[in-house]
Formats: sequence, structure tokens, C-alpha cells
Amino acid sequence: MKIKKAVFPVAGLGTRFIPATKAMAKEMLPVVDKPLIQYAVEEAFDAGIEQIIFVTGRGKKALEDHFDRCFEVELTLQNKGKKDLLKQIQELVPKTGTIVYTRQNEPLGLGHAIWCARDIVGDEPFAVLLADDLIQTNKPVLTEMVKKFDRFRASIAAVMEVEKDQTDKYGILDASQLEKNIFRINDMVEKPAPKDAPSNLAIVGRYILTPTIFKHLGKKKTGAGGEIQLTDAMKSLLKEQPVFGYKFEGTRFDCGDKAGFQMANLAFALERPDMRDKLIHFIKEIQKDF
Ligand code: G1P
Repeated sequence: MKIKKAVFPVAGLGTRFIPATKAMAKEMLPVVDKPLIQYAVEEAFDAGIEQIIFVTGRGKKALEDHFDRCFEVELTLQNKGKKDLLKQIQELVPKTGTIVYTRQNEPLGLGHAIWCARDIVGDEPFAVLLADDLIQTNKPVLTEMVKKFDRFRASIAAVMEVEKDQTDKYGILDASQLEKNIFRINDMVEKPAPKDAPSNLAIVGRYILTPTIFKHLGKKKTGAGGEIQLTDAMKSLLKEQPVFGYKFEGTRFDCGDKAGFQMANLAFALERPDMRDKLIHFIKEIQKDF
């Protein structure tokens, strides 16, 4: 069965980026010149996803407008002969009907956000992407995970090793390594204190889930932070189906964190030939003061 649908939980308020996010969706924060959400949506389409499901909330209208046509801008670019830009903004608009919006009308956590998409996803395996987790890689993570799904026919989470003192920021695994990049998950816990963490193998925001997850999310049990956690539902899923971890290649930036967001901007800007030299020169200059 092909993975055709991807769920993007985008209802979060982005309080860590206030004042920038007071009137603007945090997913619209740009890394270089592209909003965070666009990186994630492009990753999904590149992996063969056909339908994008945004679980959104109040104040997120800019997301809808971003993925829609804007004739005013198109006309202006056309009149000015800016063909490249025109092509760019036309290409980022997915085919009509491929984006579906639903709302999470209570901030009850990531697990609850995914559960809100249950009727749109239906009875098929699907992907989940957290736009905050931006990954710079030559092997796009979701594409790799779709390949792994074809092999294992089971739920998979992207994983990476984190510093031992950072476990309370992530879902942490107790897992057995099967191959170089593949783990079989035995247990998992959301945001454990370092002393309670079963390992330093953390979940990063890319998942492929079987629809059975909705049964577990539907129990609406609250966990860490008083929220309905996806990790808890996956832990419960483990009792009836295997769940795997895919250790991806590349660098993950936590764009929900101010420092992580700045690092992402620098790393992605350094990939751009038109900026690279200027930035390297600047870094060398300011480095002298460190
Ligand atoms: C969420 C998940 C957590 C995962 C993390 C990855 O946490 O609940 O298991 O490790 O994303 O970014 P959040 O960062 O939303 O608190």
C-alpha cells in the first residue's frame, strides 16, 4: 500500500518566537527565503505524497494563502518580466484539491492534533511531518522512510542520537539495532529526565504510521506536560504491531528553538552559491572577536 497522505500539525501558537509570531504563524518563519512549512511540504511531495492534511487553528490563514495562487503578485511579476520568480511562486501551489484543512480547536497536544485528521486519513498508512524539525541531507528523510515502509509494512519514526542531558525534550526509545540505520523499538517514553531515559535515541518529527494508531490516540490519555502525546499512543501501538526507528543521515535543526533556527538559516544560506562567499567572509571576520 502506498503512502499517499501526510499530516502536518500546524496549530501551535509558537510562543517561543513572540513577538515574531504574535500575528504570524510560526510555520511561516523563513529559513533563508522559504517558510519552514514549505520545506516540509516539498519533502512530502518529493516522497510521493499526494494529499497534504494541515491540522490548523486560529491565526493560521497565511498558511492557506501561501499555498494558493495570488494573481496580484503573479501579474506584477509578469509585467516586470521576472520570469524566474513567477515560475517559483506558481510551482509552489499544489494542484487544486490536494491540500485539506481541518482544525484542532483545543490545544491538547501532538497526539490530539494527529487524531483530528482521523476521518481524512481513513484506513490507510500515512506520514506525519513536524515542520519545526528541518533536516539538511542528501537523502531526504521521508523518501527514505517510505522505502523502509515498503519493506517492513509497519510504523516507523525518524530517530537520532541526542546529548544525554537533552532527553527531556524528546520522545526517547528503548530499541534494538537491527541494521546500520534500523532499530526495532521495544518501548518509548515522552520527555524523560536524563536519569530515567532508556537511551539517548530520540524521535525526530517524521513518522509513518499505520491507521491503527487512531484507536490508541482515541483513548485520549494525557501524558507528559498534561498533553495527549503521540509517543504514548505509539507505545500502546507497540503491544499489537512492531514499530521501527530509522536513523536518518544529515543534520537536523530544531527550528522551534531560537538558536536552532539561526543555525538552520546559516547552514541553508551557506548552500546558496549567491550568498556563500559573503557569509564565509563575514563569519571569518566576526570569529576574530570570539
Ligand atoms: C514532539 C514529540 C517528541 C519528538 C519531538 C521531535 O515534541 O512529542 O516525541 O521527539 O517532537 O521534535 P515537541 O518538540 O513538539 O515538544
